[in-house]
Amino acid sequence: MKTRITELFGIRHPIIQGGMHYVGYAELASAVSNAGGLGIITGLTQGTPEALAREIARCHDMTDKPFGVNLTFLPAFQEPPYPEYIDAIIQGGIRIVETAGRNPEAHLPRMKAAGIRVIHKCTSVRHSLKAEKIGCDAVSVDGFECGGHPGEDDVPNMILLPRAAESLKIPFVASGGMADARSLVAALALGAEGMNMGTRFMATKEAPIHENVKQALVAADELATRLIMRPIRNTERVLDNKAVDEILRLETEKGSGIGIMDIRHLVAGAENRKVLQEGMMDNAAWSCGMVCGLIHDVPSVKELIDRIMAEAEALIRGRLEGLLAA
Ligand SMILES: Cc1cc2nc3c(=O)[nH]c(=O)nc-3n(C[C@H](O)[C@H](O)[C@H](O)COP(=O)(O)O)c2cc1C
Repeated sequence: MKTRITELFGIRHPIIQGGMHYVGYAELASAVSNAGGLGIITGLTQGTPEALAREIARCHDMTDKPFGVNLTFLPAFQEPPYPEYIDAIIQGGIRIVETAGRNPEAHLPRMKAAGIRVIHKCTSVRHSLKAEKIGCDAVSVDGFECGGHPGEDDVPNMILLPRAAESLKIPFVASGGMADARSLVAALALGAEGMNMGTRFMATKEAPIHENVKQALVAADELATRLIMRPIRNTERVLDNKAVDEILRLETEKGSGIGIMDIRHLVAGAENRKVLQEGMMDNAAWSCGMVCGLIHDVPSVKELIDRIMAEAEALIRGRLEGLLAA
């Protein structure tokens, strides 16, 4: 399939694996790129710019296809050394960066000068337009369904994607709630040039996370996620568990007086890592999209992507063309 996104990134299929903290290592990124999509290493998961440089080198050993790095600018307890992470990205020969969180404008000139294409993740049309204005090459439009941080506007993709299509000149992919061929064909119909998946890629053989997490995704239905940190305007969609029950209890108890320090022990990176890497399922809140309701198996990345592309073709040529013929 050829779209403006496959052309921009030099990939075979219009499918991107979004950056995911403690999930987006070289194993997953290379598997996605080898299967014809765009794999993304999560920069900050590496902890230091030197470790990111090593992870990029490891990924180059696993694939000769394009892959990218995610740089997330979210509120952190301690600001990471972003310029040094960008050095590692440039010196590692990376040509695609997915930015997310705050406006990446301050870092764009260096990345653009190094020939890097930047896709910025946005949860609203106004942020997408801003990304276009400051020179991003593409946008990943993250609807309210998404795993992780959906922003504070609560607009689902059925509305957000056509609004983005009405407003943007640069290409965009649909992100949030994307799981299969139906998602891809719908995203294309709504004006996107491809799709970005997070949660779905966690339930694959190559995702380097604990088997308990993969099985939790298969078991969960579309009602299993919760929104935490709304009162501090850092909303995150997570899978329900004991830690999430406790966070929501504290949010109710403390009302608007709640601060991040009240829940830090239940959302901190070290505890999150214990869930994803060690399978301690109730230790902390962990990002998960409503799309878990559409995840019923744990295929290899290649099986998943091949299945999506074959079924998308069948949907377009069979069901959609067939409707017109009737
Ligand atoms: C476990 C997990 C961790 C995530 N971590 C990050 C992150 O560090 N940076 C980022 O930009 N997005 C992160 N995301 C968001 C994804 O890149 C993607 O935008 C989102 O998962 C799309 O929604 P979906 O889960 O419905 O596919 C994360 C998502 C998940 C599920």
